[in-house]
Amino acid sequence: MSKLALDINNLEASVGTIEILKGVNLEVPFGEVHALMGPNGSGKSTLCHVLTGRSDYTVAGEALIDGESLLDKAVDVRSRMGLMQAFQYPVEVPGVGLAVFMRESGEERGWTADEIEARIMEAGDQYDMDRFLERSVNNDLSGGEKKRSEVFQMAVLNPKVAVLDEIDSGLDIDAVREVAEGIERMRGPEVGVLMITHYSRILRYVTPDRIHVMMDGRIVESGGPELSARLEDEGYEGIRERLGIEAPAEGKAEKRPSDFFTETPFDV
Ligand SMILES: Nc1ncnc2c1ncn2[C@@H]1O[C@H](COP(=O)(O)OP(=O)(O)OP(=O)(O)O)[C@@H](O)[C@H]1O
Ligand SMILES: [Mg+2]
Repeated sequence: MSKLALDINNLEASVGTIEILKGVNLEVPFGEVHALMGPNGSGKSTLCHVLTGRSDYTVAGEALIDGESLLDKAVDVRSRMGLMQAFQYPVEVPGVGLAVFMRESGEERGWTADEIEARIMEAGDQYDMDRFLERSVNNDLSGGEKKRSEVFQMAVLNPKVAVLDEIDSGLDIDAVREVAEGIERMRGPEVGVLMITHYSRILRYVTPDRIHVMMDGRIVESGGPELSARLEDEGYEGIRERLGIEAPAEGKAEKRPSDFFTETPFDV
């Protein structure tokens, strides 16, 4: 096993002529939880999409999962390599029961039926997901329930790299704590966690080993957990001034309205 769960080197991504990621460098060792923060539109979700293999982007640079090159692999291979993403806007999959989905994913990983059942039962209990097991994946779940379901799926499938995109947005106060506790439970020597968040609130319950700040498609600052307090004080404008980063040019890509509602399905 390599020391690094996730190793990203000089990753660039663009859509047509719009450059979104402009050379991202990021290392998440096994056993650690890292937080990624940054203003709206800075490229955090794009980083997730590029890692998991959404096809809209032209990509350059390198990303390794446990030392193995990721970006040249198909989406399903990336998943089998141990990469898993919890979505900012979880996808509803009508007609596919959550338990069935977990069983099939477990079989893909070569687990026995007994192993899979035991994992589903344990995580179902821990995340209070029992009543959702026979329902379709994320279908008609409340916003908070969807987020809990995403963390539950991770607990069952045991990824090497867990990328959580705004897992805390839209959650009530208790749910933030529960989801955070779930992330802490996930922490272990065989997984690296990258957690994207806007709020230092969740960092009261999950203590990240490192916090990274993304601006304009680059990681501009990294530090220990104390960085979140500094971010709250300074704001992103303050960071720009301190680090001498120019504000992005006018006319940069705006978020498309569709981004607020749904994730585009992957090409497999
Ligand atoms: N397929 C696309 N086509 C055009 N522009 C895109 C596409 N995907 C992302 N972008 C643009 O890239 C920029 C970064 O978007 P991204 O969703 O990665 O930001 P983010 O840091 O996750 O923001 P937020 O905090 O609001 O979730 C935005 O300006 C967005 O409009
Ligand atoms: Mg985002």
